[in-house]
Amino acid sequence: MAAPLPNHPQLRGNYGPINFEASCDDLVIEGNVPADLSGSLYRIGPNPKFVEGTYHWFFGTGMIHAFHVDQGKVGYVNRWVRTPKFEKEIELGRGLNLEININKETGQIESNRRNGVANTHIMAHGDHLVALEEGSHPFSVAPQSLESEGYGHYADGIKGAMTAHPKIDPETGELHGFGYMTDHFGSKTMTYHVIDRNGQMLRSDVFEAPYAAMVHDFMITRDYVIFPLFPLTCDLDRVAKFGFPFAFDRSAGAYIGVLKRGAPVSSIRWLEAPVCYVFHYLNAWNEGSKVTFDSVDFPVAPNFPNADGSIPAHADAQGKLTRWTLDVDTGAIDRYQTLDVASEFPRIDNRFAASRHRHGYIAAASQRAKGDGGLFHEITHIDCDTGDVSTWDAGFGNGVSEPVFVEKNSGAKEGEGWLLATVYDSQKSTSSLVILNAQAVGDGPVAVAMLDHRIPYGFHGSWRNN
Ligand SMILES: [Fe+2]
Repeated sequence: MAAPLPNHPQLRGNYGPINFEASCDDLVIEGNVPADLSGSLYRIGPNPKFVEGTYHWFFGTGMIHAFHVDQGKVGYVNRWVRTPKFEKEIELGRGLNLEININKETGQIESNRRNGVANTHIMAHGDHLVALEEGSHPFSVAPQSLESEGYGHYADGIKGAMTAHPKIDPETGELHGFGYMTDHFGSKTMTYHVIDRNGQMLRSDVFEAPYAAMVHDFMITRDYVIFPLFPLTCDLDRVAKFGFPFAFDRSAGAYIGVLKRGAPVSSIRWLEAPVCYVFHYLNAWNEGSKVTFDSVDFPVAPNFPNADGSIPAHADAQGKLTRWTLDVDTGAIDRYQTLDVASEFPRIDNRFAASRHRHGYIAAASQRAKGDGGLFHEITHIDCDTGDVSTWDAGFGNGVSEPVFVEKNSGAKEGEGWLLATVYDSQKSTSSLVILNAQAVGDGPVAVAMLDHRIPYGFHGSWRNN
């Protein structure tokens, strides 16, 4: 029997889970779905069925929501990701903590990479569709039904975990990823993975970073792999002091690891960088030794304590889009803010990944209220060449997801396409899929496909063409 969930801020309102799986072949639509839009938008986020003891949003069991779009119609399916942990919870009728294995010889904590919560990102690569969470291996699901297939069907053999933010190189079709704390929990070892379009591992190489940290995202360019390391460090001694091993430790400094594409990991060089925190990168490219990238920079790590145990000030928990230039030969770094609005979940036209991009899309919040859980109520397009910005406001109090770009057709120019996102209506307590013209974001949605229920706030998603 499922018990009531604890009274916890990340289990209330639209952070709270829904307790059902459903499907609908034909959603009610306002407006017109573009006739040539044919594929699926996948979204994923934490949706625990059971919670016992302490809870953190990052550790809730993943649920996938799919919008299948074809010939002007939109169907919907949602399914839990049935990891072994979830199946065991169903069997027992209660929540379980993440499995912890202590190595009897070393005493180190070794994660089980195939028993996670699969809640952070879902993306297609070749014929595979995988749910990702940075402590585990990719978990395969069926693209139409979302039925769980399991671990090991994709990228089998990788050492350590796979980030939830791997990058697909549009030129080679290869997926590049990484893992952190590879050898054991608290270790400064990381891994660099390359997977081919058939889901076969091409390389998975372990290297050592300057310190152990939570590393959420990274970048590739045509010529380089870039591993930024910001000091959300891991120290097991903090568990006794604060009950939690991760904290933002400015004194550890920040580094950017640079690897030439195709080179051995032994050649990674760590360049000193300004201290800040970044969860997500929009994209990166290089012209010779000059790397340019856009990221969402925070003064400290939001949602985590500082090293002295203090909680970040509200003003420090706002991320802003920032452009960095980095000369990988000299180590010279320059950076400046490009959007003075609290924002997150940056996306590009993925055909331009690892190349120079012009257009970026992001969830933004020009209005913020303390205690609103960091909601975003706007979808914003930024023209990175001109600085022009176009915004659609879903209404303060409502919540928009990460905007996912879909090109109009394979020959479309960069930015010619659609933005797909989900919107939570706080008055009606329902969610919808919105489709915007990526070249006229300020005009608002061209189509809205409405659900009769809400999609809890989640993390990431992506599009898969039919
Ligand atoms: Fe993320």
